[in-house]
Amino acid sequence: MTTPLHETTLASKPSGDVLAIRGGRPLHGRVDVKGAKNLATKAMVATLLGETASTLRDVPDLSDVAVVRSLLEVHGVRVTEGDEPGALIFDPSEVESAHFEEIDAHAGASRIPILFCGPLLHRLGQAFIPDLGGCRIGDRPIDFHLDALRKFGATVEKLPSGIRLSTGGSRLHGANIHLPYPSVGATEQVLLTAVRAEGTTELRNAAIEPEIMDLIAVLQKMGAIISYEPNRVILIEGVEKLRGYDHRSIFDRNEAASWASAALATDGEIFVGGAKQQEMLTFLNVFRKAGGWFDVREDGILFRRDGELKPVIVETDVHPGFMTDWQQPLVVALTQARGRSVVHETVYENRMGFTGALIKMGADIVVHPHGLQDGPRRVARRDLEQAAVITGPTPLHGADIVVPDLRGGYSHVIAALTATGESRVSGVDILSRGYEKFLDKLTALGADFDVIG
Ligand code: EPZ
Repeated sequence: MTTPLHETTLASKPSGDVLAIRGGRPLHGRVDVKGAKNLATKAMVATLLGETASTLRDVPDLSDVAVVRSLLEVHGVRVTEGDEPGALIFDPSEVESAHFEEIDAHAGASRIPILFCGPLLHRLGQAFIPDLGGCRIGDRPIDFHLDALRKFGATVEKLPSGIRLSTGGSRLHGANIHLPYPSVGATEQVLLTAVRAEGTTELRNAAIEPEIMDLIAVLQKMGAIISYEPNRVILIEGVEKLRGYDHRSIFDRNEAASWASAALATDGEIFVGGAKQQEMLTFLNVFRKAGGWFDVREDGILFRRDGELKPVIVETDVHPGFMTDWQQPLVVALTQARGRSVVHETVYENRMGFTGALIKMGADIVVHPHGLQDGPRRVARRDLEQAAVITGPTPLHGADIVVPDLRGGYSHVIAALTATGESRVSGVDILSRGYEKFLDKLTALGADFDVIG
């Protein structure tokens, strides 16, 4: 088996899970973002649907990508390097069913294995998905996924070790599916299953994030017929066969927004190569209102402060709203804004845990576990809101902190870089799930830190 991409990177520099960070120094310089984690991993799963090999370009060097690559290889997909750095070729011509032990060993902490269901059902008539991991940001159920798969005609058996699915020997058929919430993963599940099901699928209340639109573009290149109708409706006409694709991934707007907030928090200046305006419109508006300055250029976006930081009121939401993945690094910057900011989290039920470490470092943040207001929402609301009220500016001081999840962990590192004195940040390894060459990028931006564990 070939070495997963991220292992080659880890071997070339000191590995370690604990950083000693000396803060108070603004971050200055350039970082480049590659393909989006949340597209690349899904486009990799889509390669299972093709009869011929696919090429994905700008694949980020992340542990989540390595997990999906291993799982594809366990199922018989041959993965080789492409004709340019960051390009991978996936040849699915010898796909076979894998043993449970192997799948379990390769699934890691990622939730993406759930998306293997549809493609494996089409290819092999069965699939086994181990217990799913992912970031610790609430229960993260998969009921929408399983309900949709049942509607396509799959039988779903829940076992203590995972979920076994089968087509019972028949081809999956198109379905009418109305998602209770525009879930990104469930929309991808439906797309990856409907494209080869018999007949038409109508998906209502679909997620329409740019990464989903890029996945639709990938599937269209493979021969799928998918139309995007008004009001979150997606129509998919199933086809019998699909071929491989050649596609360059959309850029990682979550990583781009993270570095933008890092420039804001540390009072630095960061050029994010590869960042584009269209997919970040909502973020850029909030960034500007919070006292940020940006310049959109041909090859990326330059971010810095525009004078004193200002408080903002933000509500996370499905696209085109303010993404849940954008709020954590922004909260660090808001601790330095003069006045009271409010961040409502409406997508996940437990995504404010990271604020505990910021409070320990001197931030004035009060988390309201049931939200603050009951006004109208873009989509039907579930009872899981939380709100953080951040009052600033408060100087941050160094502390010993433990990274809770991917975006929360990034915010901890940025808080440590904003703080005076030294911080010890543990659990940093989790950042390799979503930030390519993270420590190299920090070094390039002039961060003062040592890997100590
Ligand atoms: C994707 O997660 C991303 N992950 C997340 O990125 C991102 O935060 C999220 O979309 C929202 O944009 C990947 O793409 C791998 P959802 P996903 O299904 O698909 C509930 C990051 O840091 N729900 O849209 O799992 C769920 O609990 C990560 O990069 C159900 O109730 O998100 C949540 O409250 C973290 N039942 C809401 O819907 C289901 O069956 C949105 O989840 C599925 C979801």
